[in-house]
Amino acid sequence: MEEARTERWIRPRHFIFAALGSAIGLGNVWRFPYMVYDYGAAAFLIAYIILLFLIGIPWILMEVGMGRRMQRGAPGVFAGIGKKWEWVGWWPVCGAFLIVSYYTVIMSWALYYVGSSSVMAWGVGESGAKATEGFFFNQVLSISSGPGVLGSPTGLMVLLLAITWAVIFLVMHKGAPIIGRVSQYVMIISWILLVIIFIRGVTLAGAADGLNWYLDPNFADLLNIKLWFGAASQIAFTLSLGMAGMYAYGSFIARKGDVTNSATTVSLGNAATSFFAGYAVFSTVGYLTYAMAVPVEEVSLSGLGLAFVAYPSVLSLLPAAQGFFGAIFFFMFWFIGLSSAYFLAYGGVVTPLADKFGWNRVKTSLVVCIVLFLIGILYTTQGGLYWLDIVDRTACFYVLLLSGVLAAIAVGWGFGADNLRQHINETSDFSLGTWFNWVIKLVLPIVLLFVVIYGGFVKDLSEPYGGYPVWAASMIFVLLVVTLGVSFLPQLVKSGSSMDSGTSEERR
Ligand code: PHE
Repeated sequence: MEEARTERWIRPRHFIFAALGSAIGLGNVWRFPYMVYDYGAAAFLIAYIILLFLIGIPWILMEVGMGRRMQRGAPGVFAGIGKKWEWVGWWPVCGAFLIVSYYTVIMSWALYYVGSSSVMAWGVGESGAKATEGFFFNQVLSISSGPGVLGSPTGLMVLLLAITWAVIFLVMHKGAPIIGRVSQYVMIISWILLVIIFIRGVTLAGAADGLNWYLDPNFADLLNIKLWFGAASQIAFTLSLGMAGMYAYGSFIARKGDVTNSATTVSLGNAATSFFAGYAVFSTVGYLTYAMAVPVEEVSLSGLGLAFVAYPSVLSLLPAAQGFFGAIFFFMFWFIGLSSAYFLAYGGVVTPLADKFGWNRVKTSLVVCIVLFLIGILYTTQGGLYWLDIVDRTACFYVLLLSGVLAAIAVGWGFGADNLRQHINETSDFSLGTWFNWVIKLVLPIVLLFVVIYGGFVKDLSEPYGGYPVWAASMIFVLLVVTLGVSFLPQLVKSGSSMDSGTSEERR
């Protein structure tokens, strides 16, 4: 039996809130709606629900269950399966490191918009609505002509990034006991803000049209394989899987604590939040098409445009209280990202390091936050957006999915899916059947591998990703190889002696 941790959630519900906080983030209010938009509305929802049950829930059960079983973050989990597997746990740590390095920059843009929307800096009325794109790219990002032209960092954005990192550090430096407690408030406040945005959205003229469009299934779209790729990667992203952190959050669950109910609650609560956010967004889109008299298909909603171009346009067109709703929306955006950001930094990076080297958690947190802040400055430059996009493709697609494939193989075949199943069942109200073994051993790795190969390699190797110059697009593969190489290094070093570097006040 592995040495049990002393770092624990104080109450069982703290795990649920912390994990919900990690899951619910920009992916729900921004990525989910634009994927629904890109992939034909309700057909995407259907694929999303099918894949949630087929791969999402088994995968989260695997990560949380293995974390609790081994009482370690991701690398410790895989080292526990067999010394030679340890790197399988470090690769997603690299992924988490990269993702949080830019996730916090997107949060900082939102913070910028809290200020600029409270005075409606891009203007109100139709002229304001048309100015939002220029405002975002020229004023906020001062975007350069391509990834080769970096320019200099934007002072204000660096400051907002520093504020964001300071808040993250404050929440996470004492570890799970505080993270669990804070996450309850973060989630409840985020939901309240989302409800305000929802109510404003559905009471606007044209809202019904937007919602009809959101929920109108075109079943033929289900034959589009890209829709399935998109839905699979969204499931992994939205549940924060393949990023190491869920193992750590699982490892803070008490030995007798439940895994199945909690992880299922998290998965369904997260999906419900996405669905709800879809209402808020599409009702608003309905208003935009109504007020500007353009069809839904012509509104630019893809990618970042949804949050930072289309939504600001809607604000300009609101009959009243534009600044108020703007500030609420963008604060919600920042706040909802917060619990995902400290999840990545703490569960994804700090816990693995502290576990392995026996380092003090507070100091490790401080160093990790500072290093990530410094790296983040890169994305605040004029060419930053391009690099953000390239790193996003590397970490949030390739590392996430490939490390998921490896993890499923190591757990399914190395550790034994049935051992995991029995371990989880010991403390659960309802038992997982033997179907679970086959999902972990075969379905999960095969589906993920399929998505990486056909949705990723085949595409990115035939044409440069994002239309970038070849040298820039090929950085995706350079970064992949480098992070993979880095993942093997810690394996060469002996683990630190102390298992828990917590202070006695946190021990229980
Ligand atoms: N799940 C979070 C979201 O939907 C994002 C996230 C991705 C968090 C990866 C952690 C890891 O926004």
